[in-house]
Amino acid sequence: MSRILITSALPYINGVKHLGNLAGSMLPADVYARFQRARGREVLYVCATDEHGTPAELAAAAAGQDVFTYCQEQHALQHDIGRAFGLSWDWFGRSSSPQNARLTQHFANVLEDRGLIEERTDKLVYSIDDGRFLPDRYIEGTCPVCGFEKARGDQCDNCNSLLDPIDLINPYSVISGSRNLETRETRHLYLLQSRLQGEIRGWLDSKAEFSGLARSIALKHLDEGLIDRGITRDLAWGVPVTRGGQPRTGFESKVFYVWFDAPIEYIAATEEWAQANGGDWRSWWREDEGASDVRYVEFMGKDNVAFHTVSFPATIIGSGEPWKTVDLLKAFNWLNWYGGKFSTSEGRGVFMDAALEILPPDCWRWYLTANSPEHSDSAFTWEQLTAAVNRDLADVLGNFVNRILKFCDTRFEGVVPRDGEPGPLEEKLFGEVSARIADLTDQFETIEVRKAAQALRALWVLGNEYLQEGAPWTAIKTDPARAAVIVRTAINLVGLYARVSAPVIPFAAETMALAVGEAWPPVWPSTDARAELSRAPAGLKITTPPVLFRKIEEADIAAWTARFGGGD
Ligand code: 2FM
Ligand code: ZN
Repeated sequence: MSRILITSALPYINGVKHLGNLAGSMLPADVYARFQRARGREVLYVCATDEHGTPAELAAAAAGQDVFTYCQEQHALQHDIGRAFGLSWDWFGRSSSPQNARLTQHFANVLEDRGLIEERTDKLVYSIDDGRFLPDRYIEGTCPVCGFEKARGDQCDNCNSLLDPIDLINPYSVISGSRNLETRETRHLYLLQSRLQGEIRGWLDSKAEFSGLARSIALKHLDEGLIDRGITRDLAWGVPVTRGGQPRTGFESKVFYVWFDAPIEYIAATEEWAQANGGDWRSWWREDEGASDVRYVEFMGKDNVAFHTVSFPATIIGSGEPWKTVDLLKAFNWLNWYGGKFSTSEGRGVFMDAALEILPPDCWRWYLTANSPEHSDSAFTWEQLTAAVNRDLADVLGNFVNRILKFCDTRFEGVVPRDGEPGPLEEKLFGEVSARIADLTDQFETIEVRKAAQALRALWVLGNEYLQEGAPWTAIKTDPARAAVIVRTAINLVGLYARVSAPVIPFAAETMALAVGEAWPPVWPSTDARAELSRAPAGLKITTPPVLFRKIEEADIAAWTARFGGGD
């Protein structure tokens, strides 16, 4: 497989995302994309803002803006913050694009032609004072399962139950607060997922590479039996409902449900990318037009898995058309915030914009990779963040890089020295580095995020051990040729570290690469350490960058705890 298609779950448009969103989808997807590009694979990493539905309408109303302007501004903001974090999307699209509207309407039409969509009459909550239906998040009330008083129409944030608005106790309109509600009949389209049960199970069985978490969530839904799903809503903002290219009679004031059109945006975003860049989007998505050699990898939090293992496959498999489906679904657990959850609606935790105000992106990227909520939930703590930055980045990697570059500068005039030949210490180093590169490559290939971070750190540690044992600052007094070999080898280690660290800490990696004349963008090393550690030739002029990572101090933690909370 030479081409790799990567998507990360589309962030909702309703505001800047928190670190939990980043850790559980966009960041690991970016790390994987960067690794595969360095391996020489043709990679297409697409993401987009998820712009439709009640979250967008309500957030726009809260901001006092019309939803169109709100989405435009928030898209630009999320794009810029993502870029500042080093997210290397090939395209960051918008689910409100015309491409997505066309594709969404296409799928609905084809599914209906195949007898998989039907109109049904629903009983929904209607607000007399607001003069409208109240779908999903437009209604709140007491959760019938746990008694939580601010449960949303579609879901209880306290017990995570999926809810039907008409089941809420003491419901009220989120728009006006009115309790003057009644149940009214309205027509909606249903995707008949129950008829696709066998096909979806067979498809899942053929996907040997899904993470355990992804498979278990999918199987739970299949074992419970797939239910038919309403795919339209009484809303103004969304993809208009059409039939045969014309507005669908009786659906003029309705749109497709956000969860119907959002995953289709993966395809539409590729089309947006192709139109902007002159690429061929169909060759990435249509098995009959070249996509059979594409490996498709999806990244997402566990709350999104059902939509990607049941609903979205039902849409594209149900179409009967040869669309590409996901090969590897990598699902993540939660990053928790001091016993609770990060929460967008309650503004709890650290959000991406604020994060960049207090630390450089690489510090966050490293911390969230090394402590990824991969196989279980993980807890954000200021202590762990401090340890990751001060110990791993500053003491292990940064100290090694700065120490050797400075030594070369002061003792060898900043030029890679020529003298001496590798000895037993270098032979041992070559063996260890070769083994570590092999391990790291495996962990990245299989997307074992935490293990990859451990393997990377183990490579950095080798550099420190080598300098410690070789002690060039002592050797230079008695055996300058020996000191020269060590400096030359260690400078080559800096170049190697730039290449292998680039997926996780791309900014520092580029600084390291430029300091020692290593190519950028980086090329992934082979496991032949002897060869890989002789790329910076004798005579090369190096530069000494400023300290790579500043340490976090107690005063920082005190200030951040006061600003963001946590720490008790
Ligand atoms: O949970 C979320 O944040 C959704 N916006 C994810 C959508 S993923 C895809 F299907 F669009
Ligand atoms: Zn509940």
